[in-house]
Amino acid sequence: MVAIQDNPLRIGLQQDRIPEPQILIIFGASGDLTQRKLVPAIYQMHLERRLPPELTIVGVSRREWSHDYFRNHCRQGVDEFGGGLQSDEIWNSFAQGLFYCPGNIDNPQDYQDLKAFLSELDEKRGTRGNRVFYLSVAPRFFGEATQQLGEAGMLADPTKQRLVIEKPFGRDLASAQMLNQVVQSVCDERQVYRIDHYLGKETVQNLLVFRFANAIFEPLWNRQFVDHVQITVAERVGLEGRAGYYETAGALRDMVQNHLMQLFSLTAMEAPNSLDADSIRNEKVKVVQATRLADTEHLENAAVRGQYTNGWMDGKAIPSYRDEDGADPESTTPTYAALKLSIDNWRWKGVPFYLRTGKRMPKKVSEIAIQFKDVPFLMFQSAAKQANPNVLVMRIQPNEGISMRFEVKTPGTSLRTRSVNMDFRYDAAFGKPSTDAYSRLLIDCMLGDQTLFTRGDEVEASWRVLTPVLEVWDAPAPPESIPLYEAGTWEPVEAELLLNRDNRRWRRL
Ligand code: BG6
Repeated sequence: MVAIQDNPLRIGLQQDRIPEPQILIIFGASGDLTQRKLVPAIYQMHLERRLPPELTIVGVSRREWSHDYFRNHCRQGVDEFGGGLQSDEIWNSFAQGLFYCPGNIDNPQDYQDLKAFLSELDEKRGTRGNRVFYLSVAPRFFGEATQQLGEAGMLADPTKQRLVIEKPFGRDLASAQMLNQVVQSVCDERQVYRIDHYLGKETVQNLLVFRFANAIFEPLWNRQFVDHVQITVAERVGLEGRAGYYETAGALRDMVQNHLMQLFSLTAMEAPNSLDADSIRNEKVKVVQATRLADTEHLENAAVRGQYTNGWMDGKAIPSYRDEDGADPESTTPTYAALKLSIDNWRWKGVPFYLRTGKRMPKKVSEIAIQFKDVPFLMFQSAAKQANPNVLVMRIQPNEGISMRFEVKTPGTSLRTRSVNMDFRYDAAFGKPSTDAYSRLLIDCMLGDQTLFTRGDEVEASWRVLTPVLEVWDAPAPPESIPLYEAGTWEPVEAELLLNRDNRRWRRL
């Protein structure tokens, strides 16, 4: 049990302010993300009265929908994927602020029409020229949409116009650099919000608080005490009908370059000088710039990929990745990736960071495990017949919380030890679910707080780390070149070896 006391620490990451009246323009409004995540998140904030009454949403996509059709589409999303409507009256007040404007990403005239429509809405709804443009389109359109918005003069005012770009930002270092160039040619970095929804998760933000608001952990957070770190993001889901996107992305682009690298940098970074956006982002960039694959000469010692074959989960037959609708029957797209990273700095030199992520794993679990060094000399009998090192685990999801494993004496006359866990659980301590990641991030960009968004140099630094892997994994290869794992099981054998070679093991979760 953990007793909760209100801590006066008001970190800049916590916003209670109400954003100014504005228009949120969602490109890709007919897509899944809008219906499943964005609109339900905004509606939830509307219910919590965290948004200004003038807030207006304009959906843009190629389809010739009417305003009412779009409203209905959003309503279905809130009903099915959100927390429910609560009442028709509340929904109707929200729906009055929903509009739709058909448009093609590559048609300059459509941007002019949109611009005129937004000005009309400013008059009608009092939104004062404040805009957030949210690119929730296929990643290959990010550059074109940004360019067109710029050319239409819709990003000209850094104080009133913001641009949100979904992930993945680029496909590799070169394309991320090119996209950054396009973005920075039409707007200021202060206007750009590269979104990674992991940063919106309460437990991810808590990494900073845990590390820097407690005095007892930081002295241990280094090469002197830490043996290695394991970062796991395992998912039970497979493709969920997204083969078209996933075939061109794979686990490295879909999860590692963004979500896992964010967990990594928050775990490994130095303490920032303050909690403003740039101080935090400077430290994150610094640590990623000092990071490299542990072995680039023999890549198999630092990077392993895998793809799931058919298997069973909860008594149901699961098709192999290659048999999923829309996947290439000879595909070598990885649905699993494991990396061993090294950091060349004073704090971490010699401490490996192992990262792994996979689809169709037995469990959904995301966690960061800091494994401390063995005791130098064991004078007790351990129940496990070996010393069990201390492990600090930050559970990102589910069962959000933190646990610490340590040894205790087992009751009895002999002096034997056993490992036990001391556990903190968010739900037990706070009794309420944490804020949805998208709500958190949407409100931050409406408020103009960039802390939880990825800066241009950071995104390039993380692509740089992955470049040697991408070069090899992207090369055409026969289907049998990718290690396989059965759906519903943990990693392929090759990934076990990645740690076994170092006399270590992946945590069994
Ligand atoms: C998305 C990926 O960014 O994150 C998906 O594109 C993945 O493939 C999802 O399933 C995982 O997010 P979460 O919040 O469920 O861990």
